[in-house]
Amino acid sequence: MRVLSGIQSSGKLHLGNYLGALKQHIELHRDHECFYFIANYHALTTVQDADRQRELTRDVALDYLALGLDPNKAALFRQTDVPEVCELAWILSTVTGRGLLERAHSYKDKIAKGVAPSMGLMSYPLLMAADILIYDSDLVPVGKDQVQHIEMTQDMAGYFNNAYGVEVLKRPEARLNQAYTVPGIDGQKMSKTYGNTVDLFDTPKKARKRIMAIKTDSTPVEDPKDPDACNVFAILRLMASPEETEEMAAAYRGGGLGYGTVKKRLAELYEEQFGAARERRAQLEADSDYVEDALIDGAKRARAVATKVMARVRDACGLVTVRS
Ligand code: ADP
Ligand code: TRP
Repeated sequence: MRVLSGIQSSGKLHLGNYLGALKQHIELHRDHECFYFIANYHALTTVQDADRQRELTRDVALDYLALGLDPNKAALFRQTDVPEVCELAWILSTVTGRGLLERAHSYKDKIAKGVAPSMGLMSYPLLMAADILIYDSDLVPVGKDQVQHIEMTQDMAGYFNNAYGVEVLKRPEARLNQAYTVPGIDGQKMSKTYGNTVDLFDTPKKARKRIMAIKTDSTPVEDPKDPDACNVFAILRLMASPEETEEMAAAYRGGGLGYGTVKKRLAELYEEQFGAARERRAQLEADSDYVEDALIDGAKRARAVATKVMARVRDACGLVTVRS
């Protein structure tokens, strides 16, 4: 079974990215063949500054490696190192109706947030489908907001196979973590674009400040509280053990537990879970050859699969593949 996922290099990664996506990426790579890439072609839809793009691309690689991804096990690579995905995206665009793309929630959300409605943003799901289909992927671990894109990918594989009457492209399945949608410090979905994140690799002081700023209601300390209606608890339950979560939920319902105390506990959990990774990240940052070598090696492995699938696709369409 081949697992594949991508993360855009469009900003600093945050707890929502980790709990919704990266955490399962790291878990899955221990027992499965995994391909993880930095979606830098996609990031061009929002970041159009070369220095910043280079920096953010490297940041995503460092984040994965610091969080424990072993690049000998999983192939970690830049999307742009397998440029065949752009060719497949074009081919998919010729079998996909415009209506499908017009229904994309993510396109509508991004426009509502002020992102320029470029053709690239509109075709985003075509490139994402190509990313998935070009590796014959079986499973795509993502957060809930990406599920519609995976369903579109399934549709596009079907359109292509039907158009050419052969089963060339494999239909993938989405895989969701327990963390469907992690709330940000204002209670909306945590997202780079909302400025409501707790970043993964902030200094302990900054992270604590963000955690202490999570929005809560004004229920007094002594009153009973509903754990299911609290932003702090929603994040805490994704980071604490099931036993501690149970205990904390009971304490909420019983009254006497203040939001400040829970926030402090969350800040401790953050430090326990990311403190060591932060140190590893600083060491890796000083070893740029290691990071670059890992990316080049990952791209080689991924491209070997992509060229084979593309040969199949071209052949099915009657396009000639020049063999070297
Ligand atoms: P952002 O919304 O901050 O721009 P991305 O779109 O780059 O995040 O998401 C990268 C990955 O992280 C995707 O798989 C996405 O589903 C997941 N993700 C992002 N935000 C959240 C969240 N708040 N809760 C759960 N998963 C999330
Ligand atoms: N659209 C994804 C996001 O914003 C990133 C992405 C690009 C991706 N291509 C992909 C995720 C292929 C999974 C598979 O998070």
